[in-house]
Amino acid sequence: MDKVKSLRVASDKSITHRAIMLSSIAKGSVRINSPLFSDDTLRTLKAVEGMGVRVESGGNFLVIHGEGKGSLNEPSDVINLGNSGTAMRLLTGIIGGEGVFAVLTGDESLKKRPMMRIIEPLSRMGVDFLYRSGGYAPLAIKGGNINGIDYTSRIASAQVKSAILFAGLYTDEEVIVREPIKSRDHTENMLKAFGVDISINGNTVTLGKNRDLFGDFEINVPADISSAAFFMVFAALSKNRSVLLRDVLLNPTRRGILDVFDMAGVSYEIKNERVENYERMGNVFVSYTRNLKPFKITGDMVPRLIDEIPILSILAIFCDGVSSVRGAKDLRKKESDRIKSICENLKKLGVKVFEYDDGFDIYGNPTAALKPATIETYYDHRIAMSFLVLKAAKGIDFSLSETHSILTSYPNFIDHLNYLSG
Ligand code: S3P
Repeated sequence: MDKVKSLRVASDKSITHRAIMLSSIAKGSVRINSPLFSDDTLRTLKAVEGMGVRVESGGNFLVIHGEGKGSLNEPSDVINLGNSGTAMRLLTGIIGGEGVFAVLTGDESLKKRPMMRIIEPLSRMGVDFLYRSGGYAPLAIKGGNINGIDYTSRIASAQVKSAILFAGLYTDEEVIVREPIKSRDHTENMLKAFGVDISINGNTVTLGKNRDLFGDFEINVPADISSAAFFMVFAALSKNRSVLLRDVLLNPTRRGILDVFDMAGVSYEIKNERVENYERMGNVFVSYTRNLKPFKITGDMVPRLIDEIPILSILAIFCDGVSSVRGAKDLRKKESDRIKSICENLKKLGVKVFEYDDGFDIYGNPTAALKPATIETYYDHRIAMSFLVLKAAKGIDFSLSETHSILTSYPNFIDHLNYLSG
């Protein structure tokens, strides 16, 4: 019989960032239950506190006392957002609308991530920017009077969409965002929960008449499917084990990993599915699976599993045939160049891999024998967690260049992995 263990993984990072930011500009107090407390989200919290928002923090909750749009103060110092692309891109929309002056910076990785994708639409909406050549942080932002926009984005990016919608809260003019493929829709869901009028038609989002946010309610943050993904793959690869992951976010724009599990034949079940504050969640039960089949991730699927590609590449090592990822060029612009980080490390372990500009092929084998190597994480949390899962599931002894980066999204990850492997 399988050994079964149950776990509630770290809370959702995308929802926590949005809950903190939107509560800060709502009229009234919002209690956020089980937010993610990690380096990335604490940077967002510190940023809003630096703009005068009153925050109470308990063991597993936050209460944010917002005073409405236009109430944020000019921060008295540079805001350092560490490793968090979401914090930088989304806060820019709010700062732009608030009309204050702020300078945003981050760590070496964040300063290499493209910001032109938000600078361009927000400039059209009336926000002034200064930035390093090519559109890199530090960014100096001077908000102003916001105009409407009808914006067609070239990329499917929830961060771009959210920055525009956040700035769009500060105008009565028409604000429309069109995307080539639908990206995660937590901003749309949360704006509805705050009472903002918003309409969604396919991949087009339009702000409606009421753009004021009302507080005095509670948000329950579900467990992050991008964090659960590590243990879902751990269970699929670990002989005689099953894992039950509780309260996992199952938003349709985030659950692409389940489509890959269907293709690979991973044994899983979803239980107790429900919707709270417009977000779907449930329990995910995954068991060790023999005879894994190869899978193909195509461009239309990428937005629904973008952050899970590192851990799915670990699954691919043990699938019987060639698994492929294509149409994922934006992976090169994440916390590291993830196409390179995945391919180089797999090659070091002796896995046959072909790298493409927008993805890769992995030649899998259920009895893959891996060579000892030192994994280079490139200070990318998801690369570090993926290879720790490989190590634990298959009992392979290799070392990693660092694991400190994990603090950005999942501070208890190693404890949770030890618990599940014990
Ligand atoms: C996020 C959106 C995605 C994702 C990131 C979080 C968000 O980025 O990769 O980890 O919370 O909006 P893009 O919008 O750049 O695709």
